Amino acid sequence: MSKIVYISNAAQVVTMKGHSEQPAKKERMSEVGMIEHGSVLIEDGVILAVGTDQDIRAEYSEKLENAEVIDATGKTVTPGLVDPHTHLVHAGTRENEYAMRLEGRSYMDIMNAGGGIHATTRATQKATSEELYEQSHRRLNKFLLHGVTTIEAKSGYGLTLEHELKQLRVAKELEGDHPIDIVSTFMGAHAVPMDEKENPEAFVDRVIDEMMPVVAEEKLAQFNDVFCERGVFTPDQSRRILEAGKKHGLIPKIHADEIEPYEGAELAAEVGAISADHLLKASDRGVEQMAEAGVVGVLLPGTAFFLMAEFADGRKMIDKGLPVALSTDQNPGSSPTISLPFIMNLGCLKMGMTPEEVLTATTINAAHAIGMEEKVGSLEVGKKGDVTIFDVPNYLTLSYQYGMNHVDTVVKEGKTLVRGGSLA
Ligand code: NIG
Ligand code: FE
Repeated sequence: MSKIVYISNAAQVVTMKGHSEQPAKKERMSEVGMIEHGSVLIEDGVILAVGTDQDIRAEYSEKLENAEVIDATGKTVTPGLVDPHTHLVHAGTRENEYAMRLEGRSYMDIMNAGGGIHATTRATQKATSEELYEQSHRRLNKFLLHGVTTIEAKSGYGLTLEHELKQLRVAKELEGDHPIDIVSTFMGAHAVPMDEKENPEAFVDRVIDEMMPVVAEEKLAQFNDVFCERGVFTPDQSRRILEAGKKHGLIPKIHADEIEPYEGAELAAEVGAISADHLLKASDRGVEQMAEAGVVGVLLPGTAFFLMAEFADGRKMIDKGLPVALSTDQNPGSSPTISLPFIMNLGCLKMGMTPEEVLTATTINAAHAIGMEEKVGSLEVGKKGDVTIFDVPNYLTLSYQYGMNHVDTVVKEGKTLVRGGSLA
């Protein structure tokens, strides 16, 4: 007999219906497909029906007889949230650098002096696979508690073949063991190791010739990312890395124009990246080229918030026709949060986005940014039964009562994993 889960009678169900073929742009980012007094029916982990509670009761009375019922009366239901940019697998924390930055040191300064990404690289290289697994597993549970059911995870704190593989293998193991879906990205080009600063081209060669073939061969990643930034990797080096990845079937992503304008957005359009991320300093022309080329813009306002930088102009990007997604950028240096709902708050309060747009940006557009749009990101028949239930009477309240966790229930492929705000 099939297992039926019936999420019944929510005050609002936000379906995100109709955006699975193409990421939502412009006005379409406001079309959230809201149903009042809505219900969701899941059969064997897959969505069977979404509609008004009345319609579902009438049409599926037989199936409902043996259903597990989750009463969502007075609450708001969304697709399980999707976080399309995280540095999930890493060791240690950097609160010391936070204190330094509060006293005026800059993020890049700290990195160039051997802290920053290098500090986390040292900690990650030292950590055993078991330690990385354990720390990352705990982070995944926190993501779940904040309503996230799918995430992307990058390597990039290994910076040698051995340690990049260690990070990616841990992510793969977690993808098997933890209910959250994890999509992996190889980011061997996250920083030039301190002792190779004099010869960055040789490091780029190693990323391409030594690391990439093994990552591809072992199928440890779908995407290939690079930190294209002055003092890290130049646009030429980034192009070389992304083009080489394509030959191995790795789809390009890019950390672009985060600290300084550096033509990262333009490069994303040129190489046909699936997404370009950060974009705080992206040029208008770059944004237009991205929109033209169908690149998703992944904005990370938690990073601007935490680095006390100017926010990306999400409003302008959406108006220019760029499909926008939002993400935590979870990492120990520039964005040590796991709260995607808080990122939604920042999207509204700091980037001029509407409550509808931030919902689109953390569900279906986020799914498009990691190639998961056919499986997750909306509540539509045939998609995974991934559902987040917030203890708020309407979705507007999510961005209104900011900085607190409203998640009540999380269902992943029909299984209740969070109940009453705690792990079930
Ligand atoms: O996305 N900008 C580069 N990489 C990360 C930060 C990594 C770190 O500081 O450890 C980011 O912001
Ligand atoms: Fe990042």
